[in-house]
Amino acid sequence: MSVFENASFAEHDCVLHCRDRRAGLKAIIAIHDQTLGPALGGCRMWDYASDDEALTDVLRLSRGMTYKNAMAGLPLGGGKSVIIGRRTALDRRALWPAFGRFVETLAGRYWTAQDVGLEVEDILALGAATRFVAGVDRTTGRGHDPSPMTALGTFRGIQAAVHYRLGQDDLNGVRVMLQGLGHVGWSLAEHLHRAGASLLVSDIDETRMQRAVAVFGASAIAPDLVFDVEAEVYAPCALGATLNEQTIERLRTPVVAGAANNQLAVSEAGVWLQQKGILYAPDYVINAGGVIAVGIDAVPNADRATIRQRVLGIHDTLLEIFRKADAEGLATSTCADRIALARVEARRQHDSQAA
Ligand code: NAI
Repeated sequence: MSVFENASFAEHDCVLHCRDRRAGLKAIIAIHDQTLGPALGGCRMWDYASDDEALTDVLRLSRGMTYKNAMAGLPLGGGKSVIIGRRTALDRRALWPAFGRFVETLAGRYWTAQDVGLEVEDILALGAATRFVAGVDRTTGRGHDPSPMTALGTFRGIQAAVHYRLGQDDLNGVRVMLQGLGHVGWSLAEHLHRAGASLLVSDIDETRMQRAVAVFGASAIAPDLVFDVEAEVYAPCALGATLNEQTIERLRTPVVAGAANNQLAVSEAGVWLQQKGILYAPDYVINAGGVIAVGIDAVPNADRATIRQRVLGIHDTLLEIFRKADAEGLATSTCADRIALARVEARRQHDSQAA
């Protein structure tokens, strides 16, 4: 099947298939849209069942980055890359120089960064092979971990959603069902605990869950019972696609607000949440703290001093979406998509008039 026939192809600007046999590299870079600026989006390493599955993933993810970067107010377009294979099975000493050379050939049209399957050491190795890597501090040679900023933005997003739906200005006593205690989830748990929230936690890693019980006084919930718990907030911070017809039917929280990417299994799930009266904080809006912190590397003369303020601003961005969605009778996910697309379209029209 050709790229153009793939159901997830959405008028992408460029799709580059990268192959270096000697390095064992098989990768795809997709640039979805460059209207707002150079495309930025992480590199994911995954043991895809087929090349078609990898293509679909990179097309979908790169399009999502156009929305995410636009909504975060970044002068960046949307792109993403995927490397096909398992991290442990690939020769990383050969892999990163080879992949870096492909990123270099795009001459700054695409900036890569850390995503699922990569560790900070990988991004540092990639940074030695190409200039176009976000998340590497060139002066100290260290990698930035975006997770603390993602967690901070998500925390502010939960505050906004609780304020809007429950009319409560603090999180004191608010029960949060936190799914996933990894990089983002643990840091979020620290914020929530400090703010007085009551934590229910779930992780397939039993040790992490028990640590959260000990540190935060959290209640441990078995992974398959997450959707049956009575709480005020469900905060997905593990895998994507947890919100489908069945789980939404089971959900007993008035708010869904968490950091996981691609939470809606299908786009209609946003409408199902709205119909059930559940306030959904669109994933790419609430979890933009990391891209705000790291994406700035791709922006010339960017003001780093305002990063934290901009991450905190996710609170107000979400309030604006909640109000607009209600006023227009839309699902919050639909409303966010429309705002992001309108920003790209306004810039496109401005550029074409200026040309
Ligand atoms: P991570 O890999 O550090 O943590 C994921 C955690 O979820 C692990 O503790 C894992 O054991 C747990 N988990 C996996 N399946 C589970 C299940 N079925 N039930 C309960 N727990 C389960 O990942 P990280 O970096 O914390 O990211 C979490 C989510 O946030 C992901 O969806 C990621 O795409 C998204 N995200 C992360 C950003 C970042 O800055 N790290 C930025 C934006 C989004």
